[in-house]
Order: sequence, then structure tokens, then C-alpha cells
Amino acid sequence: MSTQSPCLKTVITGEYPVLVRRIAARIAELVRFKPNAVLGLATGATPIPIYEALVRYHRQEGIDFSRVVCFNLDEYYPILPASPQSYHHYMQNNLFRKINCPTWHVPSGEAASQDMIEEACHQYEMQIQNAGGIDLQLLGIGRTGHIGFNEPGSQRHSRTRLVNLDRETREDAVADFGSDKDVPRQAITMGIGTILEAREIILIARGEKKRTITQLAMDGPVVAEVPASYLQEHPRVSWYLDGALENNLPQLL
Ligand code: PGA
Repeated sequence: MSTQSPCLKTVITGEYPVLVRRIAARIAELVRFKPNAVLGLATGATPIPIYEALVRYHRQEGIDFSRVVCFNLDEYYPILPASPQSYHHYMQNNLFRKINCPTWHVPSGEAASQDMIEEACHQYEMQIQNAGGIDLQLLGIGRTGHIGFNEPGSQRHSRTRLVNLDRETREDAVADFGSDKDVPRQAITMGIGTILEAREIILIARGEKKRTITQLAMDGPVVAEVPASYLQEHPRVSWYLDGALENNLPQLL
């Protein structure tokens, strides 16, 4: 089912594999239409099947990513790129070693001085601008309502920067890091302002534990306490909700 309201909020509901197919098809369509498209990519458990589908598009249908440029939303700090828990490693493993896309960027989580971090964040913004801006940004949503690692309190015009991670976000990362004490307390993330400059945004929310926060983000007030609510101010955002959230749809719209 697909509905569209006057503010161009598109809501697509269905079983998760169907959503995955539709999102991958949209990305493949964009890359066919614009071979030098700029993609904003996300990590976490939710997007992995989308990347698997993109790999199939590449291998079976010859979708060419050679001129595509990719920017990831965020990275833990501090972390080495080669660490198995880094988002750099995640992207390499799940996507970039399997397709022909040589130009991809993940914020650097390597330990550095405050000045060096600020400079690297500024450079990340410049790289996005120099690439022509992001055509399509893929987003998940955290239990805190974060997009990227913009936790509650993030400002509408925030840019790429070093942030503190919320307790729930760190709890959700324990499974990857093995123990609470090993989960980094900080991260580098694109800002809300950076994300909202993307020309098209796709947010995918999966599972019961995202139900309440997704409802608030879509339908509640636009507030810093729910960073994903800022997406209501974007002219072209599609909310993909899986079966666990679908039952809330009458309330959501
Ligand atoms: P998840 O993370 O896909 O692992 O649920 C989403 C997010 O935190 O943005």
C-alpha cells in the first residue's frame, strides 16, 4: 500500500522483504538514470538486506556503480577503520568489496585532537558539497529517534560533528562490541542540516521496538527531542514501515 499526503510525506508499508526490494529497486533506478549519483548510506541491522539486493543488481543485471559516490552517515569514535565493529568495516564487508564502487566515504573514527576532528568534519561536509550534494539518503531510525547518530537534543541546522551516544544507543551496540564497556561513548555523525539537504530521503523502520518512536517522528511535533521528526520538514521523504508498524498506520497518518 502506498499513500501520499499534501506535504509529500509518502508512507509505504508491507512485509520487510517487500520493502527491501522496493528500496533497492529505487536505488538501482536512480543509478541507471544518473550513473554519477551521490548516495548517502546507513549502517545497522536494517539495511543489510538492501545491500545484498544491490549486490544482486550489480552481479545479475550489471548495474554499474563505477561513477557513483557514496557517503556514510556516521562512525563510532574512537575506532580504527579495520576494527570489525567499525562502520568502515561494515560497509566494506556488506557492500563495497562486492560491487564496483571505488569512491566511498565513511567519517573517520580514528583518534585525533579536537582541532583535527573539527577539520575532518568540515572536510566531510566539503566533500559532500563538491560531489554535488546527496541525491538519495538512506536512513534507519534508532530507539532514541536518532537519524545518523543525531541523538535527542540535536539541532535542526547541525552539521557533521563529534557527538555523545545515548544510553539506549550504546545498549543496542553491546551485541556488536561484546560488552558495555567496549562500546564507544562517542561518534562522528552527519548533522540534521546535512541530512535534510539530501534531495530525496528514504527512512526504513523495522520491528515492534521502533513503533512508538516512528509514530512520534512521523506524526508528533517537530522537536529536537525526536530528531527524526525534523524529516517532516523535508519535501521528499518516504517512510518505509514493516509489518510490525503497519497496524499503526491510521494513527500515523
Ligand atoms: P538498526 O539501527 O537498523 O540496527 O535498528 C538503526 C539506527 O540506529 O539508525
